[in-house]
Amino acid sequence: MANTKLIVANWKMNPETLEEAKAIVGEVSKKSKKFKSAKIVLCPPFIYLSEVERMVSSHKNISLGAQDIFIGEGASHTGEISPEMLKSTGTKYIIVGHSEKRALQDTDEIVHEKLFGALKNNFKVILCVGEKERGDHAGQYHEMKGQLESAFFKLPKNLIKNVIIAYEPVWAIGKSEKEAMKPEELHEMAIFIKKIASDVLGAKYVEKLQILYGGSVTKNNAKEIIEKGNVNGLLVGRESLKTENFLELIAEL
Ligand code: PGA
Repeated sequence: MANTKLIVANWKMNPETLEEAKAIVGEVSKKSKKFKSAKIVLCPPFIYLSEVERMVSSHKNISLGAQDIFIGEGASHTGEISPEMLKSTGTKYIIVGHSEKRALQDTDEIVHEKLFGALKNNFKVILCVGEKERGDHAGQYHEMKGQLESAFFKLPKNLIKNVIIAYEPVWAIGKSEKEAMKPEELHEMAIFIKKIASDVLGAKYVEKLQILYGGSVTKNNAKEIIEKGNVNGLLVGRESLKTENFLELIAEL
């Protein structure tokens, strides 16, 4: 199944009601059974995790993901959700370091802690990285190197297999499909990410490292981004909530 693409649906703070969430999951679950080339990870808000899991638990192509994880220990943390709670809902994947969390409070150090915490608790982690801007001076490579080195610092080798990198240039998130990153530029960045990962972690540990792209992916650009961009899958925001489009996107791959 080396060619299977990983398609992560990042619902962010959507939809507004459980009924709407169930409608999306019902459709995706029913119509995605025939897709052989993609594995889907649905990442709803915490509050919908249990219900989504109930609907997809027997579905071979769909897994459950959470959008964040708490880093510390103990239970006296108002408003937080622990790794144990996430496990009890059937969550298998955790998104860490999304740029919208980085913009609020998640520094490189916090992202590192969350990555380790999630891995120690046997989750697969979708580690989001991406430069804020793209100028003429290759500053994006410097920024990416910093984010990756900080996240991977002293990462135990046995945990590397559960890390997936989602490269999401911040300037390409939430834009029109034409403003998504050009696949040729993505190809270069994917090579760079593999090189940094290999320098920090060791070449043999990153041979199978999966890299996803996120940022204004739609049914119209998904296939080209994957094919020419040298990536193993996609992190899809808005388009993952438009059920018909999302299913078409996957069917195209
Ligand atoms: P978008 O979001 O697909 O709506 O641009 C992607 C993301 O933020 O993960």
